[in-house]
Amino acid sequence: MNQYVTGAVIRKLREKHKMTQLQLAQKLGVTDKTVSKWENAKGYPDITLLEPIAEVFRVSITELLSGSPVYNANVSANMLRSIFYVCPVCGNVIHSLGEAMVQCHGLLLSPLEAEQTDEHHMIFIERVEDEYYVRIDHSMSKAHHISFIAAVSSDDVQIVKLYPEGAAEARVRMRGVRRICFYCNRDGLFFIDPIKGIDDKESGYDHSSERRELEEAAKALYERCPSQ
Ligand SMILES: [Fe+2]
Repeated sequence: MNQYVTGAVIRKLREKHKMTQLQLAQKLGVTDKTVSKWENAKGYPDITLLEPIAEVFRVSITELLSGSPVYNANVSANMLRSIFYVCPVCGNVIHSLGEAMVQCHGLLLSPLEAEQTDEHHMIFIERVEDEYYVRIDHSMSKAHHISFIAAVSSDDVQIVKLYPEGAAEARVRMRGVRRICFYCNRDGLFFIDPIKGIDDKESGYDHSSERRELEEAAKALYERCPSQ
């Protein structure tokens, strides 16, 4: 593990909660001398104590280990707050709904920051019935390729894993998709709002089922009242 709870973090949290070393020790069932040792970097709390310590200070284990508060932007578990991590060694893709300590191949992975698509990473999106057909104009060599496409809506995430020598394309269910991301193994994570990326070949005609239903309803209404 690259990071473990430090004495400085325990001291900071204890002082923030206006607790003495003895008070903390009593809550954890250890001696005040033990707490003092942790705070003076002369020992670490056993791993079985991490959860009780986190509970006493009302922080998450992640916050305890990283030493910085994680403001819980994830209360509503909204998928649009999705975070992706990719292991540079094996290409493993990890999806999280909030900050997490993610390790793969001994590396602590950083959350990927998505950038707007650029001229080297152009995405084309077409509507095909109730799906988006997504294609990225990009090399798919082993050295430089798109390794996944993710379509994010407020309540789900569809991840399509891609492989070198395969096609840089995917079909995803359209319903509710607000953001499409894709990852280039060299250049990182890109995103686009699909509404902006739609390559609508039929002059912007909207084929969505909602639109078709509305049109049917309008037609039926018109047929009933032809004079209007
Ligand atoms: Fe690239």
